[in-house]
Amino acid sequence: MDVTPGPELAQTVTLQPFLTLTTSGGAHAATIDAPVVLAPMAGITDLPFRRIVAGFGAGFVVSEMVASQEMAQAKPSARARARTELDSELGLTEARTAVQLAGRDPYWMAEAARMVADGGAQIIDINMGCPAKKVVGGLSGSALMRAPDHALRLIEAVVGAVDVPVTLKTRLGWDDGSLNAALLARRAVDAGVAMVTIHGRTRCQFYKGRADWRAIGAVVRAVPEVPVLANGDICGPGDARAALADSGAAGVMIGRGAQGRPWLLAQVTAALLGRAVPLAPRGAALVDLVATHHAAMLSFYGRDLGLRVARKHLGWYCDAAGGAPLLRRRLLTSTDPAEILRLLPDALSAAPSDQPQEAA
Ligand SMILES: Cc1cc2nc3c(=O)[nH]c(=O)nc-3n(C[C@H](O)[C@H](O)[C@H](O)COP(=O)(O)O)c2cc1C
Repeated sequence: MDVTPGPELAQTVTLQPFLTLTTSGGAHAATIDAPVVLAPMAGITDLPFRRIVAGFGAGFVVSEMVASQEMAQAKPSARARARTELDSELGLTEARTAVQLAGRDPYWMAEAARMVADGGAQIIDINMGCPAKKVVGGLSGSALMRAPDHALRLIEAVVGAVDVPVTLKTRLGWDDGSLNAALLARRAVDAGVAMVTIHGRTRCQFYKGRADWRAIGAVVRAVPEVPVLANGDICGPGDARAALADSGAAGVMIGRGAQGRPWLLAQVTAALLGRAVPLAPRGAALVDLVATHHAAMLSFYGRDLGLRVARKHLGWYCDAAGGAPLLRRRLLTSTDPAEILRLLPDALSAAPSDQPQEAA
């Protein structure tokens, strides 16, 4: 299998093997050694999953969105979402972790930013892309795209509160009639934001249709002094190359593609940078990985909640492995951790192909 970048990549994409993030005062810079980043996903990018992804290799990984007021008021669930200890347990000295904050009040955003930076977040990301009704109803997430002056006040509050790089994640606009991501990004960067990620859909699209990578190019051109990450529907090296070529972005952010395939970011990074693409684990190595992830979830959430949270991950691992539907059902309905461990080798026995399909 050819793992060097194809000629079309050489012609259309000049990819730096790193991203440089600088704070507004230039006092603190983070150099991210791979331009491939794990997207924040509520209910999914918890500490156990981020650890697994970071263990394979990723530029950095982003927490689930954390409600700023709940964080500042020390609500245990918010604190758990913001946990960042990648390094201590796995010796992952290079793995960086961003905590994403959501909210609408500059005071709570600044308070929460201070807390998560003190807690070890090396990057703070601000959520201005979440389309969920309960979030936009509270004037957070992508609703802030419709209130750019207020959005700027939040950004200024966070940038002023911490000396780690602050990044922004947003969408192309609220709807097709208001594609203001470039304008918002320009103002955000003037206020000190160090990197911008654009999900190539509008809020009103939610997750429908295809992400428009070409439209992300307008943001890339509006903020040439900072890296922009292209996001949306990137599920393998082929998609990543196309997204980079279409948008001119400095890197990519991958979300759903990594579900059940936590090694995907390492494979995409290697393919983009012309290095040997690591093989996806299979057989005993895959069973070991899933068993470790499962145990980590039970330990992080406690047994009962852990079993529930783990189900979706087990399902994705089975889907990626192409296992038998009957075994998948047994695995997902079992409430006995020992039985789950016993079922894993057979449930994961139809191993995935060694490489993501688009890599060829
Ligand atoms: C279940 C789920 C939860 C998500 N939670 C967040 C979140 O907390 N913060 C955020 O900025 N985006 C969130 N997103 C959006 C993703 O970060 C990403 O922008 C989107 O899924 C498109 O990228 P993908 O096609 O690579 O998944 C979520 C997406 C999904 C599917």
